[in-house]
Amino acid sequence: MLKGKTILLGVTGGIAAYKAAILCSRLVQAGADVRVIMTQSATKFITPLTLQTLSRHPVYLDTFDEKDPSVVAHIDLADHADLIIVAPATANIIGKMANGLADDMLSTTLLAATSPIIVAPAMNVHMYEHPAVVANIQTLASRGVRFVEPGTGQLACGYVAKGRLAEPEDIVAAAERLFRQGELLAGRRVLVTAGGTVERLDPVRFLTNDSSGRMGFAIAEAARNMGAEVVLVAGRTEGMPPAGVELVHARSAAEMLDAVVARFDEADIVVKAAAVADYRPAAASDRKIKKSGDTMTLELVKTTDILQELGARKTRQFLVGFAAETGDIEKYAMDKLQRKNCDLVVANNVAAEGAGFNVDTNIVQIYDSSGLVADLPLMSKREAAERIMQLVAERLDGAGGSGANVQPAWKAADADRDGERR
Ligand code: CTP
Repeated sequence: MLKGKTILLGVTGGIAAYKAAILCSRLVQAGADVRVIMTQSATKFITPLTLQTLSRHPVYLDTFDEKDPSVVAHIDLADHADLIIVAPATANIIGKMANGLADDMLSTTLLAATSPIIVAPAMNVHMYEHPAVVANIQTLASRGVRFVEPGTGQLACGYVAKGRLAEPEDIVAAAERLFRQGELLAGRRVLVTAGGTVERLDPVRFLTNDSSGRMGFAIAEAARNMGAEVVLVAGRTEGMPPAGVELVHARSAAEMLDAVVARFDEADIVVKAAAVADYRPAAASDRKIKKSGDTMTLELVKTTDILQELGARKTRQFLVGFAAETGDIEKYAMDKLQRKNCDLVVANNVAAEGAGFNVDTNIVQIYDSSGLVADLPLMSKREAAERIMQLVAERLDGAGGSGANVQPAWKAADADRDGERR
């Protein structure tokens, strides 16, 4: 997986910097073209010559020491990296990354990078557990940075605790996993819907729901990370949509229907994570509705069920629906799967703590025509999205209703991802 990949290795100033030499060597042996940036503190623990010899390239230390006048080194390095690994990562570099600081060659390059990033922290256990460090790690994880967690053992400071840099082999395995995952949906077109729809009553009022679009954004991001070409049809959402996807805005259920149907034929996979209104006002007033009597009755009419429409039209597309429920999850999920002709339904109990709207986590169950295929515990929406899309990738050949059963992705993934946290 690493052959021919350009990997930028950032080494920061902790005692574990000596292990960066082994990591560098392993990456080179695996066929990667490794470029190294060291912080000044790292050079107190290990010499640039060691990493230069192992990587067979000059080591970058200083933002202003421009060796090649035809390029700006930190931009050039960032642009050409297929992956950046920061190992060992001190609390300081993690803090700088989380806060967008760029005051040396490594932090500046990291800020200019668009490639995936793997961070392998190493520090004293109290530093690792400090709320500031915990919050910085969470911030970075929410932006898609992957972490290879430190191990537990004898720390340089004398403690026997968590904080020891992960073994170089584990970091290499995390890099391989990332590249492997990046090919799972290569060449596939994925259409994702996200957020809630907005149904106008008048120029100042509308009916909507609690959906923030986070689950749909996470699905779009996971599909993009797996190499797919992604179109994201977004209703009312919060936060930034992922980069690298085509964004289409659709406010109402009717607009979303048009946007999705127009792109359905060319899609290989459709994931309908949007919370679409089931009813809209029978008529939207073009003037503000004035208050009158003590009560007011709104007449609502049914919207088209987009998913059901797609299910009826589908030829080769793999269709994934969502079912937001507050009880009888399995019954409703299976009913939606059959009624809307889906290949998978992702169900959740929106009333459960940590699941549903407006939180970063979810607890989902995934169903196919034979019943429950995955019962995922509480995890970040980003991680749930990865599991869902892995499952889809494995089942693609069974699309169109055959419901081919293959080994569930999460089982293989669990065995494969010891120590990695996202
Ligand atoms: N859906 C849709 N168009 C609608 C309503 C729902 O495409 N007009 C899709 C959602 O995007 C989701 C799935 O159908 O993927 C299930 O949505 P949900 O609101 O849970 O189910 P409903 O079919 O609306 O059923 P109910 O209201 O009975 O729960």
